[in-house]
Amino acid sequence: MDPSLVKIPPMKDLTADNITENVITINSLCEDARMKYVLERLVTHLHDFARETRLSSDEWMTGLRFLTEVGQICTDVRQEFILLSDVLGLSLLVDSIDHPKPPGSTEGTVLGPFHTHDAEEMPSGESMSHDPKGEPLLVVCTLRDTEGKPIEGVKIDIWETDSSGHYDVQYAGREEPDGRCVMRSDKEGLFWFRAITPVPYPIPHDGPVGRLLKKLHRHPYRPSHMHFMFEKEGYDHLITALYLRNDPYETSDAVFGVKDSLTVDIGKVGPELSKKYGVPEGQALLTYDFVLVSDAETSELRAHNSKVALDKLGRKVKIVNGLPIPDLD
Ligand SMILES: [Fe+2]
Repeated sequence: MDPSLVKIPPMKDLTADNITENVITINSLCEDARMKYVLERLVTHLHDFARETRLSSDEWMTGLRFLTEVGQICTDVRQEFILLSDVLGLSLLVDSIDHPKPPGSTEGTVLGPFHTHDAEEMPSGESMSHDPKGEPLLVVCTLRDTEGKPIEGVKIDIWETDSSGHYDVQYAGREEPDGRCVMRSDKEGLFWFRAITPVPYPIPHDGPVGRLLKKLHRHPYRPSHMHFMFEKEGYDHLITALYLRNDPYETSDAVFGVKDSLTVDIGKVGPELSKKYGVPEGQALLTYDFVLVSDAETSELRAHNSKVALDKLGRKVKIVNGLPIPDLD
């Protein structure tokens, strides 16, 4: 490359005090305003982190080795980086920022590392779990918009562990999906299925993230839950889960997923539901009414929240493509 064509502002005599502004300056040629802003804030916070902790070279190498190991253990069915983001609380934070929920709508929570794209589509009434040791559970749900109207034809991904607390992908000999399915809501917004009562389970803790938790004196357990993901054009993509109340890990979830509005009591199937759904009376029952938010409602709320949050930090921003960038006009 011809050096005379490089339009980079000159940098020299770099010091601990001026390194941040110099890195920001050299990155500022980026034409993507959002990327430029994200990089500017990332560099600022990373540098401040090093300054504030007086980070030693040994500690930095330990950190780099740790991240290397996190990458090396990842496979098609093991995502250690998602796990790392989860145990640091970052996954929940990003979901809350990007998918804000108005009052009365269903809150989101962490996706976790066990969603797959090969679950089979299943009509209402069938069983998503083939584990004979699981406690049979009838799940009856409705799906509405924020005005209370049923939403038909939403694609719903559902996944849970078996009765031993393992997802199908954690078994080496997995030949086909189990404990997961895809459903569609009917014109009443209803979908119902048979499953097993969720149990608590540890996140994979035989890798670098598990070792980190151990060092921090944290346990790797997640409270009993079932995952749900909703997709329909015009509605904000909802990734959520339902948590069983009074689970021993309800208040110490390793990945910070539990929210009050997503915590449910397991009931029992009474005579009416037994007849209607053809399941034995007394069987465990989970019911929930999900409320989806439209894309328009979400964009408006996201932009509003961004303005409020950045105003508090004293930053003048404008919203472009739904995301904040510095307002330099
Ligand atoms: Fe899970």
